[in-house]
Amino acid sequence: MMPLLTTKGLSRDFGGLRAVDSVDFSLMPGEIRAVIGPNGAGKTTFVSLVSGRIQPSSGMIVFDGTDITTQPACVRVRRGIAYTFQITSVFANLSAYDNVALPVQRTLSDGRSKGAVRAGVMSALERTGLADRAHMPAGQLSYGHQRLLEVAMGLALKPRLLILDEPTQGLADSEIDNFISLVRDIAKNATVLLIEHNMPVVMQLADRITVFNAGKILAEGTPEAIRDNAAVQEAYLGTAP
Ligand SMILES: Nc1ncnc2c1ncn2[C@@H]1O[C@H](COP(=O)(O)OP(=O)(O)OP(=O)(O)O)[C@@H](O)[C@H]1O
Ligand SMILES: [Mg+2]
Repeated sequence: MMPLLTTKGLSRDFGGLRAVDSVDFSLMPGEIRAVIGPNGAGKTTFVSLVSGRIQPSSGMIVFDGTDITTQPACVRVRRGIAYTFQITSVFANLSAYDNVALPVQRTLSDGRSKGAVRAGVMSALERTGLADRAHMPAGQLSYGHQRLLEVAMGLALKPRLLILDEPTQGLADSEIDNFISLVRDIAKNATVLLIEHNMPVVMQLADRITVFNAGKILAEGTPEAIRDNAAVQEAYLGTAP
C-alpha cells in the first residue's frame, strides 16, 4: 500500500529558529495518527506546511503520489486535504449553518442548488452534534462548539485527509466521548491527522502516535510503545497536565 502523505526533509525556519527540522514523515490511508509533543515543538507549523498555509524553507511534501510542495492551499483542498486551525477561525457573525454552507458550496459543481447545499450542511452539523444550533450565530457558540463547527466545515469538504489541530480544547468531558465517536466515524472513509494534548483521547483514538520535540520527530509508534518510551516520558508525558 502507498502512503497517502509523505514528507522528506521538511523544514521551516522563522528567523534563526528552525521550527520544523528535516522531518521525514509518512501516513498510510485510513490511519488515525496522533501528533503530540510539548508546546512549541513544531506541531502546528508541521501541519501548516502540509496544508499549504505556510511554505517550507526546504524539503518536499507528496500527497497521494503527487508532489504538492509548491501547490497553493486551495489546490491542496481540492485534492482532499482539509484542516482546522488551532485558533478558531469561524465567521462569528454568520450562523453555524452559513459557516458550513461555504465549504459545502465549494464541493458542489452547482453550488447554488439549495437542496444539495442543505443536505450537505445538515449532514456535517448532525455528525458533529450541532444540528440544533444551526441558526445560532457562530460567535455565540461556546468555544468548544466553535471548534466542533470547524470540524464540521472540514468534513463538509469531504476530505481524504482531515487535519485537526487541538479540536477538543474547550470541550466538556461529556462532549469528548462524542468527539471520539465522531473521529472513529470520520476515519471510516478518511485519514485523520490529529494534534492533541488530551492523552486519554490520543490513547483511545490513535493507530500510531508521532511525537514532536524541538522541530524533530522524537519517536513514533503504537500508543503502548509511546506510553512506555522513556525519552517521550522525559520530553512530554512526565510534564503533561
Ligand atoms: N509565524 C511565526 N513566526 C515566528 N515564529 C513562529 C511562528 N509560528 C511558530 N513559531 C515558532 O515556532 C515554534 C513552533 O511553534 P508551533 O506553533 O508549531 O508549536 P506547537 O507544537 O504547535 O505548540 P503548541 O502545542 O503550543 O500549539 C515555536 O517556537 C513558535 O514560537
Ligand atoms: Mg500548535
